[in-house]
Amino acid sequence: MRIAFFLVLTIVGALGATAAAAVGAPPALLGVALVVAFLGLACAAGAAAVALHAPDDLREPREPHGPTAPTPLPDDGISRPAFGRLWLAALGAFGVLGLVPLISLARKPGRRVITGWRSGVRLVDENNRPIARDRLVDGSIETVFPQGGVGLAEGSAVLIRVDAELLRVAGEGGAADGYVAFSKICTHAGCPVAIYRHASHELYCPCHQSRFDVLHGARNISGPAPRPLPQLALDVDAQGYLVARGDFGAPVGPDDWDRFS
Ligand code: FES
Repeated sequence: MRIAFFLVLTIVGALGATAAAAVGAPPALLGVALVVAFLGLACAAGAAAVALHAPDDLREPREPHGPTAPTPLPDDGISRPAFGRLWLAALGAFGVLGLVPLISLARKPGRRVITGWRSGVRLVDENNRPIARDRLVDGSIETVFPQGGVGLAEGSAVLIRVDAELLRVAGEGGAADGYVAFSKICTHAGCPVAIYRHASHELYCPCHQSRFDVLHGARNISGPAPRPLPQLALDVDAQGYLVARGDFGAPVGPDDWDRFS
């Protein structure tokens, strides 16, 4: 009965791991199911080997006539055909387990970076104070975070106030009340972008001098940055504080798998 128990464990573990991979369950769950499957098969094989092993003091009786009687199979509490089917089922389930790496390869990676931004989240300064709509004057800049996420590097953004009419003419859709916000993490190598030149409405990255056009979605004008700084679309809530309309429009930071999810 012990062997049958381990075989059932193998089947459950193998099918569970395959199902976990198919639905994209957390890796820890997949790992536990794999451990159950491998351990179950190893224990079943070990228990079968022990059961079939003849004791050391066994001496084959030397009967003078006739062939030796076949060694009886270990009594595992189930019939011989059922026992065979159970082994086949366990090995079959183990074969299905081979699909797990294929399933994992077929799935695109999801967005891994948590920025803390979502619709309605207020912009706050480094002291967690909400940003009121009259906080900045035209031409000034401030680093902001999502409320409750102060210090979260992936959530950091630069908030800039510019002439609302210039934004309107430029067709800037993510602005609110003359404010625009962009990820503070450079898309080239991840340096913090925090130098703003009001005269030309450009953000600079100090590491390799990439320049970004604030009036046109922080598109890169020059330098090695391969794409614009992701924009944080803004709004003003009923109490007059700046809020996000959602997460950044693109994955933050240098290119990685997140872009292709
Ligand atoms: S890190 Fe910004 S330009 Fe290289």
